[in-house]
Amino acid sequence: MKKIFLGGLLAPLLISCSAEQKVDYRTRTTSPVPAPTTIEARDAAQANAGGVKKEAAVFVAEAPPEVTPELVAHGKLIYEANCISCHNKNPNEKGSIGPAQAGTPWEVVKVKVVTGRYPEALPPGYVPQRTTKAMRAFPKLEGELPAIWAYLKSFR
Ligand code: HEC
Repeated sequence: MKKIFLGGLLAPLLISCSAEQKVDYRTRTTSPVPAPTTIEARDAAQANAGGVKKEAAVFVAEAPPEVTPELVAHGKLIYEANCISCHNKNPNEKGSIGPAQAGTPWEVVKVKVVTGRYPEALPPGYVPQRTTKAMRAFPKLEGELPAIWAYLKSFR
């Protein structure tokens, strides 16, 4: 009785093992490791294999634009037209959404306004006031950066 029961259990097991061995690898068309089909996939695969290394961003200090009374006056208009929906009218204080920014270095103000993001390489000693990514980008204000800077600087 016991023998028959065991045999009944073992037989399907043996059959399934031998069935698995029947795969003929000489005629198999798909490789067990699928080849990347897109450039992105290839790049990702290379990056994973250590083939492509992203260069670490390096901070480059820049001389900030000069501050003239004309730039301060013009910067006030630009700031009040674009920034105070989130930042405080007084850049030394935090606003409804955005932090105070009167003490933010030039290299950060520049990138933050044009891209909405903090730069990848930060000035030594500077710590972003937030870890959020809530600010929008103002690429069209690139030409107004010296005025924005002058206005912010006039509060320090
Ligand atoms: C939609 C709301 C919004 C507007 C409009 C906005 N900001 Fe911001 N800003 C933020 C927020 C929120 C942060 C905090 C970081 C983040 O979430 O992006 C920030 C951060 C900054 C910082 C970095 C402060 C620091 O040292 O951490 C600067 C500089 C800045 N804003 C300047 C400006 C200027 C100049 C304008 C106008 C041209 C402007 N922002 C318009 C929301 C805004």
